[in-house]
Amino acid sequence: MLTIAVSKGRIYEDALPLLEEAGIVPIDDPKKSRKLILQTSREDVRLVIIRATDVPTFVEYGAADMGIAGKDVLLEHGAENLYEPLDLGIAGCRLMTAAPVGAPPISGRIRVATKYVKTAQSYFADLGIQAEIIKLYGSMELAPLVSLADCIVDLVDTGNTLKANGLEARDLITHITSRLVVNKASMKMKHRDIQPLLDQFEVTLQQRNNS
Ligand code: ATP
Ligand code: PRP
Repeated sequence: MLTIAVSKGRIYEDALPLLEEAGIVPIDDPKKSRKLILQTSREDVRLVIIRATDVPTFVEYGAADMGIAGKDVLLEHGAENLYEPLDLGIAGCRLMTAAPVGAPPISGRIRVATKYVKTAQSYFADLGIQAEIIKLYGSMELAPLVSLADCIVDLVDTGNTLKANGLEARDLITHITSRLVVNKASMKMKHRDIQPLLDQFEVTLQQRNNS
């Protein structure tokens, strides 16, 4: 049995066509079902539905053989105990700093609100900026509006959330896409099952790139 960890929401939506191309069609729809383990059209493959930030943990400990996780989550979690064989190119966005429109450039001693604590710490340390990082779990855009922080580090896609809250994107930290991650022991022990899946994903991604 192969267990694949996926989060509900945008990653699931984007991953579904990729999984389907590999002949993996979930029997239940996670939007309608409360089940956390979804059987699929393939008897030897099941999906576990978890929070996006928990995917590396499940895969690292072997609770799932493979998973799909955003690069943002992998950077923050640390991916040294996982294989990251494929960039799936889905759920694309940018990890950026952002501040109120017209506020002075980000420098000196600053307070930064983010859920990406380690990534932000290392980013500002590399720039020699003294940043006090305030950990939040969501709605980061609110922090500068209520003087909790001078700026934020968060994901930006359309920029609509920033705009709606009077903020502007400042510096790009990195581009983000979702990656396939594989448990190291599973890669060895279940190689015969995992490798064909990786090959199929790769074919689909190449076809997408060519069309
Ligand atoms: P959790 O439930 O663990 O708090 P979350 O609410 O951030 O996670 P999603 O919003 O579904 O979960 O985001 C999952 C992943 O999708 C992120 O880790 C990131 O890689 C990507 N992502 C997040 N926001 C966007 C966006 N606006 N546009 C494109 N991709 C995004
Ligand atoms: C993400 C991110 C930003 C927003 C950016 O939030 O944290 O708030 O998307 O997208 P945009 O540039 O297209 O507006 P999400 O929608 O996942 O909400 P959440 O963080 O509250 O889960």
